[in-house]
Amino acid sequence: MSKTDDKSLDLPQEWPGALHYDEQEVEAVTRIVRAQSPFRFYGLDFQHEVEQLEKEFAEYIGAKYCLGVSHGTAALQCAIAAMGVGPGDEVLLPGYFWVSTVSAVVRSGAIPVLVDIDNSFNMDPGDLAQKITKRTKAVIMVPMGGVLGQVKKVAEICKENNILLLEDCAQSSGASQFGKMAGSFGDISIFSFQINKNITAGEGGAVVTNSEELYKKAFAVHDLGYTKDEEGNLDIENKDYQFWGIGCRMSEVTAAIVRVQLKKIGLITSSMRNFKYQLIEIISGYKGISTRYVADPSGDSGGFLKMIFDTKEMAFNFRDGLIENGIKVRQGGYYPVHMLDWGLHIYSNITALVGKKSFCGHHSVWELQENEFAKDYKYEKGTLPVLDSFVERTTLFCVASKLSDEHKTLIKKAFTKTCDLLLESK
Ligand SMILES: Cc1ncc(COP(=O)(O)O)c(C=O)c1O
Repeated sequence: MSKTDDKSLDLPQEWPGALHYDEQEVEAVTRIVRAQSPFRFYGLDFQHEVEQLEKEFAEYIGAKYCLGVSHGTAALQCAIAAMGVGPGDEVLLPGYFWVSTVSAVVRSGAIPVLVDIDNSFNMDPGDLAQKITKRTKAVIMVPMGGVLGQVKKVAEICKENNILLLEDCAQSSGASQFGKMAGSFGDISIFSFQINKNITAGEGGAVVTNSEELYKKAFAVHDLGYTKDEEGNLDIENKDYQFWGIGCRMSEVTAAIVRVQLKKIGLITSSMRNFKYQLIEIISGYKGISTRYVADPSGDSGGFLKMIFDTKEMAFNFRDGLIENGIKVRQGGYYPVHMLDWGLHIYSNITALVGKKSFCGHHSVWELQENEFAKDYKYEKGTLPVLDSFVERTTLFCVASKLSDEHKTLIKKAFTKTCDLLLESK
């Protein structure tokens, strides 16, 4: 039996950036350790890594400012605080996201309002327009898995209505649409460098914006609550920037790794994208299976293939078929996943949201006087019918960023066999 027929062949996990670690990341970490300078503002032989990453990342996205932070979740908190979101405000966001997206809204004291998705699995501008009220302070667009959707249209709607747009690009570093980078469409955007993301230092995040004011506010919140003057000294007298900081600074070690990863981002995303579209070509020969709409495939960062079926049963059967035909899931990885098992990415699975729980056991934001208007808002399954229907009928395949020819052959064979078994050719 050849190795490609061997059903026990393990596939690498879908940790895109980490699979591309090599001596360059080792050198970067070693340099910071040798310099005895892991802190972003000073050190024995200070290397200025965070500052340099901020410059390079801002330039890469095509924005003026970037702030390195400790996590994507922290980046969301800083961005939301910078936008001045709080009690009495509504923040509109899709129901397909990560729990951090909605938790950052709830922790600000504002009310999350769920918006349905379109066939790109991104926010539907039509539903967004209907849900805007005089209380809408901000919109969060969440391009999941590196596909941007109708972000330009959403940005236009936000502008017309004088609403701030935050792009949660945690899963979309390196993605673009017709040449414009994810994170450059709205007023402010955030990124994550956690291990499942396109580039990674294990943890890490960034806030990106063209607005000096939003940048300075995010900076203050990420540090001690205050901005810095031209000389880099804390300015505690400036009344525009007197907040409560959360101390989520990025470390020099994180920045050193992310700087190396940023140089590899094109290689990482193109490896995933190229193979993803080879798989799409296979399944496009069959009836009863489709994939999500991608306006500009060349800007898809490629990590996730969503396969949509007519029924829930077919989506489960397809997942099982892929596994039976040789796609073995290594522990900790998740190759073929039915979207019903996609956990805290789906609004109705978030028990704290459905149950309108409080941040720390006292009053929940839905009980605040300023939020009286929202006391009957609902978040359980059924709130977003289009998303609910897609979730029932979709199986995901996570495309790894580094696959040997042997792996690729095995995966393609599994796709062809499963399609032949379950579907009719076109
Ligand atoms: C859409 C989205 N937003 C925010 C985050 C949070 O990022 P982090 O894990 O770096 O806190 C994630 C991470 O999974 C995410 O997928």
